[in-house]
Amino acid sequence: MCKERREEATSNDLKYGDFMETMINEVEKEDDTVNEERSVELILSLLIASYETTSTMTAITVKFIAENPKVLMELKLNYVEQREHQTILQNRVDKESGVTWKEYKSMMSFTHMVINESLRLGSLSPAMFRKAVSNVVIKGYKIPAGWIVLVIPSLLHYDPQIYEQPCEFNPWRWQGKELLSGPKTFMAFGGGARLCAGAEFARLQMAIYLHHLVTTSDFSLIEKSDIIRAPLLRFSNPIRISISKNL
Ligand code: HEM
Repeated sequence: MCKERREEATSNDLKYGDFMETMINEVEKEDDTVNEERSVELILSLLIASYETTSTMTAITVKFIAENPKVLMELKLNYVEQREHQTILQNRVDKESGVTWKEYKSMMSFTHMVINESLRLGSLSPAMFRKAVSNVVIKGYKIPAGWIVLVIPSLLHYDPQIYEQPCEFNPWRWQGKELLSGPKTFMAFGGGARLCAGAEFARLQMAIYLHHLVTTSDFSLIEKSDIIRAPLLRFSNPIRISISKNL
């Protein structure tokens, strides 16, 4: 596609207005460091980084919710005895509008707790690489400059010293904690300068999906599905739900 697009591009005028077109314009610039090979790599890795991640994490969240009726109830009926998502619908000024930024930021505490807990337990990224740019000493261990370090987020996420009964899906453990950026012991989106560029976007998409799911239907899993790590996260059966009632 990139080659075809490059051949047909005659000027800098935007015909498609998409990411690939912007990228091709960059490649055409003589002094730019992005070449065609790198741009194809970027497009492919962005597809995996953005689509596969969010859809898998949304699926696992639905699985966890469907297996934990208390959590589903709480999503509908939150801890101040109001329906979290029903309250949003009732207070929405423009009934035709979708989820607003204000609703997402300040009216979905329990939803954010559910998302954090799914991200922790899902621990989608099995490992990340870092390079020590200078000699570092951590807990008596010296990491010489230039060494590659393999960071494994699940070691933190499943550490019982940090998360009590770590294999339990328990969104309430996030109560009273900073939810959107999360503590240093929460690395579902990595950390530091290379933190996931789409973290906020992924959270938003998941919250919007959950909002529609719990406000429009009663649902249950069609079949049991186990989580498999080999080493990437996948499921023994697809996560499929049946809608028993449209609310
Ligand atoms: C639930 C969904 C997602 C999860 C769990 C996730 C997780 C991660 C992780 C663990 C990293 C490595 C961070 C590091 O090395 O510190 C990463 C990097 C990245 N993610 Fe995501 N991600 C998700 C969604 C997205 C989305 C929706 C986008 C784009 C729209 C995206 C774009 C990126 C990019 C561009 C990087 C590389 C950042 C860099 O190296 O500077 N991700 N993600």
